[in-house]
Amino acid sequence: MDFSLSEEHLMIRQAARDFAQNELLPGVIERDDAQKFPAEQIKKLGELGFLGMMTDTKYNGSGMDTLSYVIAMEELSKVDASASVVVSVNNSLVCWGLEAFASEEQKQKYLTRLASGEVIGAFCLSEPEAGSDATSQKTTAIDKGDHYILNGTKNWITNGGTADTYLVIAQTDKEKGHKGINALIVEKGMPGFEIGPKENKLGIRGSDTHSLNFNDVKIPKENRIGEDGFGFKFAMKTLAGGRIGIAAQALGIAAGAYELALKYSKERKAFGTEIANHQAIAFKLADMHVQIEAVRNLVYKSAWEKDQGLNYDLSGAIAKLYASKVAMDTTIEAVQIHGGNGFVKDYHVERLMRDAKITQIYEGTSEIQKIVISRSILKD
Ligand code: CAA
Repeated sequence: MDFSLSEEHLMIRQAARDFAQNELLPGVIERDDAQKFPAEQIKKLGELGFLGMMTDTKYNGSGMDTLSYVIAMEELSKVDASASVVVSVNNSLVCWGLEAFASEEQKQKYLTRLASGEVIGAFCLSEPEAGSDATSQKTTAIDKGDHYILNGTKNWITNGGTADTYLVIAQTDKEKGHKGINALIVEKGMPGFEIGPKENKLGIRGSDTHSLNFNDVKIPKENRIGEDGFGFKFAMKTLAGGRIGIAAQALGIAAGAYELALKYSKERKAFGTEIANHQAIAFKLADMHVQIEAVRNLVYKSAWEKDQGLNYDLSGAIAKLYASKVAMDTTIEAVQIHGGNGFVKDYHVERLMRDAKITQIYEGTSEIQKIVISRSILKD
């Protein structure tokens, strides 16, 4: 075993860290307040190759491994989880899904523009009545020979208003259950495709979350990903990798809050000394440090398994489950260490606490991760 990072990984960490400090930190509080999408920052992330990190260079990606991706996700998420979720969705759910399962024509037409960040993508699975229970898709894609007719509503779609390319999961043949589901590539502007209002959220307020409505949208057959009926497996396989990205996001939120709490506790004085000298605070910092170390190892291991071509369904679910819990616990403690200042926006930790919550919900709630984990350990 080798726990050291390569020169290349260290360089990626530094580049992501510099970007977070120089480009994401300025204005992050204001963007959160105003629910402003970090459009300029996302454009720059695309130019630097962060939106198609794992995509092959022949499709305009950066050709890096999953470990590079999670390292970058951690650093970006320490500062701005609203920006890092765009990086996560575009990399793991959209670009990875297309590279792994789309046809060569689809890759040339869509992936090349998504991986370079020229446009961004969205992954559309959740519905008003099918978030966790993903096989119960009510959106329909009726087979009309050379095209599908798409009808239905999708909810809580990240990049819903800003994306250009949407991967939409829909039911073609209800009788066949999950084997009757397809994944279709939908373009913004297709007649009958409407974007609903932006959601007013607790956290990741800068990210662009919308419902989407499809009213008799005509989708050419060549926009289906994989064989007829492959849509549910496409969603599951893609989400398995997405969960590693969200685990890395949760790791970054936790580590960002910890770093702020550590710094603050060495500066703030109470009872005649820096609060870090009080065991009540020092022990909180020790607990945070241990949990974050454990999470980082889980996230790296899952990324490593993916890079080795091993199955990472279980390790990704474990990493996401634990990372999101640690993000929640750590950010709450970081607010507590900051006391009254922790409740004030200027100190950043209250935002990180609000941002942490979504990591226990999207790309499979904590309860869904426990289904995946328990099924895996019980089947042997
Ligand atoms: N890889 C490949 N195939 C898989 C798979 C995986 N990881 N997981 C399941 N499958 C296959 C199964 O093998 C089965 O196929 P067969 O019948 O051929 O064997 C089929 O899929 C159905 O599987 P299950 O019977 O296990 O299905 P289920 O109804 O019990 O549900 C579940 C399984 C794990 C709970 C699944 O529904 C699930 O993951 N739900 C959560 C969905 C989710 O993550 N939603 C989040 C929305 S996306 C989002 O948040 C994006 C964003 O914008 C940030």
